Order: sequence, then structure tokens, then C-alpha cells
Amino acid sequence: TIDEIAQRVLDAMSLREKIGQMCQVSSFGTDLPKEVADDLRGGRIGSLFYTGTPEQTREAKRVAMEESRLGLPLLTPRDVIHGFETVFPIPLGQAASWNPELIEAASAIAADEARAQGVNWTFAPMLDISRDARWGRIAESVGEDPLLASAISKAMVRGFQQPVENADGTVAYEGIAACAKHFAAYGLTEGGRDYNRAEVSISELHNAILPPFRAATEAACATFMTGFSAVNGVPVTGHRELITDLLKGRWDFEGLVVSDWTSVIEMIEHGYAADRREAARLAVSAGLDMEMASTTFRENLVDLVESGEIEESQIDDAVLRIIRVKLQFAMPRDDDPLADQTIESRREVAKRLAQQSCVLLKNDGVALPLKTDKLKRVAVIGPLADAARDQLGCWMLDGKPEDAVTLLSAMKETLGDGIEVVHAAGSESSIDDSTKGFDGALDAAEGADVAIVCVGEGWMLSGEARSRADLHLPGSQRALVQAIAETGTPVVLVVMAGRPLTIGAEAELADAVLYAWHPGTMGGPAIAELLVGDESPSGKLPATFPKQVGQCPLYYNHPNTGRPALPETKALIGSGRADFPEDQKYRSHYIDVDPFPLYPFGFGLSYTSFRYDSPELTTDSIKPGQTIGVRVRLTNTGDVAADEVAQLYVQDVAASLVRPVRELKGFRRVRLEPGESQVLEFALSTDDLAYYDNRGEVVLEPGEFRLGVGGDSTVSLSETFTLRGSEVTDEAKRS
Ligand code: IFM
Repeated sequence: TIDEIAQRVLDAMSLREKIGQMCQVSSFGTDLPKEVADDLRGGRIGSLFYTGTPEQTREAKRVAMEESRLGLPLLTPRDVIHGFETVFPIPLGQAASWNPELIEAASAIAADEARAQGVNWTFAPMLDISRDARWGRIAESVGEDPLLASAISKAMVRGFQQPVENADGTVAYEGIAACAKHFAAYGLTEGGRDYNRAEVSISELHNAILPPFRAATEAACATFMTGFSAVNGVPVTGHRELITDLLKGRWDFEGLVVSDWTSVIEMIEHGYAADRREAARLAVSAGLDMEMASTTFRENLVDLVESGEIEESQIDDAVLRIIRVKLQFAMPRDDDPLADQTIESRREVAKRLAQQSCVLLKNDGVALPLKTDKLKRVAVIGPLADAARDQLGCWMLDGKPEDAVTLLSAMKETLGDGIEVVHAAGSESSIDDSTKGFDGALDAAEGADVAIVCVGEGWMLSGEARSRADLHLPGSQRALVQAIAETGTPVVLVVMAGRPLTIGAEAELADAVLYAWHPGTMGGPAIAELLVGDESPSGKLPATFPKQVGQCPLYYNHPNTGRPALPETKALIGSGRADFPEDQKYRSHYIDVDPFPLYPFGFGLSYTSFRYDSPELTTDSIKPGQTIGVRVRLTNTGDVAADEVAQLYVQDVAASLVRPVRELKGFRRVRLEPGESQVLEFALSTDDLAYYDNRGEVVLEPGEFRLGVGGDSTVSLSETFTLRGSEVTDEAKRS
């Protein structure tokens, strides 16, 4: 077995060779540098960051296997975050599809393209629950909800790793190793400012932040990465309770844990480790198996073991984990991972995913789909309409802008020769507030039947270290939208961005708004087909959209306060009155922005309409271990075929800890023809009703629950049922 082989290899290793496996080194440039080659020969490197040149990677792997004493294969990781050659929407966009199967297919393509170039490990999926649009890395996340994120976590891990069951029941992998990151709570970074601390209660950590990571272990994710930040005062890279006790202990994770880039030495800057030696000791003692980029392991571990400060058994455990991952994912294979797929088939998946990720936020007067038979001239305006690099988004290393199809070129192609398409960028997609290009944009809009205005964020405005304190359309784009709207030409706003933006004012001015995130290589055709009605938008928001940045963090599944904001207060705010009536005054709201989101979690319109009948429950009372069935009839009441994402929400009415006002407990994407209806069935087990207390233990509490099924998170929770009993299943206890 793999365990036996790994043990035999370990038994043959010197202490220095073992420590060498725990070191990940990066090497840039085309050729393999001599000192790196020497270190590979000497067994001083376990993993070499893929540098972008397949030649160097190939040579490094050869040297490691043919010229080192043990001949161990090399792990060659790369950030394959949302595609490799074919670029899919940013992860937040993928999450808006609520389509785990399609996301799995996309991840498998990314893995195949990467493996063809020598990559055998991706630093994805990023599973940090993100509730704050100021944080630039919300773009790389799959949103704010633990259930949706858990489903996507499993889909991405399966897609990247591609498990296949052998005849003897063991599992082999055809893909590349996945890495669940950044363990854990990096997304709760205070103030939305990257690398900042996260403070989170134990119950919140277990209920809201850890589930997607737990899901990754259930999907046999091979590796985990610790985050940069300190959680409850302890940098995660040195967090024994999280890495050893929880991940490797309670969750039985058998893979390897790697640090983030220099996060071992950053424990010194945090003020947690006194020096590099202590940083290495703290990291290994916490359970970290591999150090990325910094070199404290190489410098200190031999001495730390010889002095008895670190047990050699701790090193052995780390090395066994590394060897196991190598045996699963780094052994040489001579098959071509792309043999059975064409570039067209990969791009088709990219188009479908981009299409299903687009969220229609407004469609007044049915401005969309465009009435192409009545159009003579269409203006495609805005800095993102023809910005191939921008539409690929952040954390994109290997896709080529020249392979991306922009909205401008796709609109020309889709509308054909009979309709004139005029274009002007109008402004920059950056924070540049120049209005130099406005005249050209206004000329284009003035003579057109409709203006498709594609605005948003250039790719550099979201991602790592790209936090923003202002969530408006950047630079002069707000003024651009306003000026175009003033021409009187109908405006269809297409927003490409790495995060929810506060676009309330611009949405008011527009007739329709389609939120396309950074949609990737096939963003242009995906959006064009939606605009002309070849397909109906079906994406749903994976993150709440605030009206103003001051509302952040804003998320639907927040716990209640004793004085929640009242819906009627919404009308008062903005009326200039700060003297709210007595019964509305001392409530949890701002006095200058109403407390409700611009667009709620789960929201997204369609070209058709759907009716949800009242849900029927199979019983009104359940006992521990039982399941309650929820049936709801969904009907397409409009006149076009479309997909709908039905969502089931539940509220635990009274509990011994304050629980969220509602939580997503199930979802289903279904396609319905006009007039067609389908009965959707959901099943809720009592494990779904359990939660974690402040010791991190699972509890199930008897009492009343409310439930509703609908098209977004504002659905009324009209049904109730009662849980009788409190016995937690063994399975839930282990989670
Ligand atoms: O994978 C990334 C991580 O998300 C942020 N720091 C650098 C790593 C490797 O590139």
C-alpha cells in the first residue's frame, strides 16, 4: 500500500534528507539554476514552485528522480486558481452559477491543462468564507455561505484531483493535488484589509468558517495551506489547535499542510516568534509539514531535533505525509491529459460556466433580451467592453489575453452584419478619474438604439493585497454612466468586477444590469448570448451586495440582535429625518443608509418568471436520526425556457446560542420549459439542524424551526416543524 511504501522510503532516509522534503523552493527564469539543481541532487528540496517554464520543471523533476540518492519525485505546484490556458470566471463568479457539476468539469479541465505543462499540485480551492467586499481576495473565494462553499469545495477538489476507483477498491488520481486554503478564517480579516487579524468565536468558526474545509477533507483533498493571518491571537501557521488537534486529529486529515508564502517567518513580524529558529520550532510543533519560500526549516530543523526541542517523530510524520502525496500525484506519467478533449470543448465549458455565473440584477421594462429585429445601431461602451486582460481577472498566470473573446468582438459577431456596432472605452477601468474619453463615448451612445455599458474593475483592483475602502465603480466610471444615461439612449449596464460593488446609483440610471464578475476567456460570447436572449441569465449572488461600504461586513446569515432593524425604517432613511419615531429609534441600523442590502444573497433575475407553491413537509415533528422531507412545486410561468436555482432556508427559532436569522440548507438548479412545473424534493436530517457550541462540540436542541423555499434569501419562512430530542449522531460528532 501507499502507507507501506512511504514508510519504507522514510526508513531509508537520513534526518537531513527528511528535512529536505519539508522545504519548498521557488526558482524563476527559464533554466534550472545550478544551485537549485545541486540542492535537488543533495535531497534538500521536496517541492519546487512551477516557474512558468515547463522546460525548467521537466529538468528539475528529472534531476530529483535520476540524480538524487533516493530518487523521490518532486512536487511542482502552481496557482491554478480559475483555469490555466482556458480561463474560467473568477471563483466568486463560478460560485454564482450554483452549479457544482459544471464547476467540477471546469476544475478538471484546469488540472488537465496544468498537468500537461508539468504542474502536479494546485494551490486551490480557496475556501475562505468572505463577508466583506472590501477584501480584494473575495474574488478568489466562493462567497459567504458555508453550505454553498462546501458543495463547491467538494466539486473543485474532485475536479482538480480526478479520483478513480481501482478494481481492488483503492483510489488513484488522474488529476493534480488540490490545496484547501487558507486554513482558516483568513476571509474574516478585520476591516476587509488583507493580512489583518481575524477574531472569531469558536462556535462561529465551526458553524460558518470551517465547513468548506471539512468538506475538502471529505473529498480527500491532498493538501492544506495555512493562512497569513492570526486567528484569535495565534498566527495560523503556528496554530496547533487548528492544524494538529482539529485538522489532523479530529478530522483525520492524512495529507500535507504547507505554509503560505513566507508565513513561517512572518510569525516574527506578528510578534509571535522571537526569531527564525523559534518560528521554525513553532510551525513544526503546530503541525506544519512544509515551508513555502522562507528557509527556516532548512536552517534550523536539524539542530532543533538534535537538541530535543522537536521530536524526530514529528518530522517523520510530516515526511510520511509528503511522500504519500508524492506517490499519489507526482509519479511520472506518460499519458496526455488533453488527449480526449479539444480546445473547443474546453472553451465551451468556459462559456457555459461564464453564462451561468452572470447575475441579472435589474431588467426594467424588459429591456433585455435585446429586440434585435428592431436594432440598427448598438453602442458597446466602457473600459471593460474590449479589455481582454481585465476580463480574465486576478490570480491568472497562464491564460493569454489574446485567446480571450471580449464583449465587443462577441457582440459584433452575434449581431451580425445588419446591425452596426460602435465602440468607445470612455474611461479607464482603474482608479484614474480622467474624463478625456467621455466625448467619444457620448457620440457613440447618442446615435445608438441602445448602449451596452461595460464598466467595473480592472483585474488589478481585486485579488491579493487589493483591498478597497471605496466600493464604488472606480475612477471616472460613475460619471461616465451618468453622462451616457443623460443622452436618453437606453442603458444596459454590464459590470465586470472582482467583488460586489456599490452600484446602486448607476443601477437606478440603467434599464438593465447584468453582473458578470471577471468572466474569463469566453466572457464575451457568454454575455452576448445572454444579451440577445439565446439563453436566460440564471446566476444567483453568492455574496450580499451592500448599498454603502459602511455596511461591510454584510451577510445574510447573521445572528439576530435584540433590536433588529425594521423594514419600515427603510423609508425614513434618506428622507433627511434623523428623528425616527420612538418605536424605530433605538434599533440596529445606521441613520444615513438603510440597513438592508442593495441585492440580497441568492438573488438573481431571469427572462422568465417562476412561481413557488407553498412547501409541503412530510411531517411536522422529527426525532434525532430522522429526516424531514420538503416538497415544493416550482413552475415556469413565463414564456421562455430557463434555469432556476431553488433555495431552501431554515431558521432555528430559539437556541442556547444566538443562531443566524436563517441559513441555506439546500439548493437545486433546474431547467423548466415555459409552463412546465416540477416538484422539487429536499431532505433535512437532524444533523442539518445541529450546530456547534462554544466548545466546538456539536449540539442538537429540541424546539421549533422555520423553513421556506424560494429564489433568494429573502423568501418567507412560512412553514414550521418541531424537533423533539437532542441526541447527536456519531457522524455529526466526528465532523
Ligand atoms: O497560493 C498563494 C496564496 O494564496 C497567497 N500567497 C502565495 C501563494 C503561492 O503563490
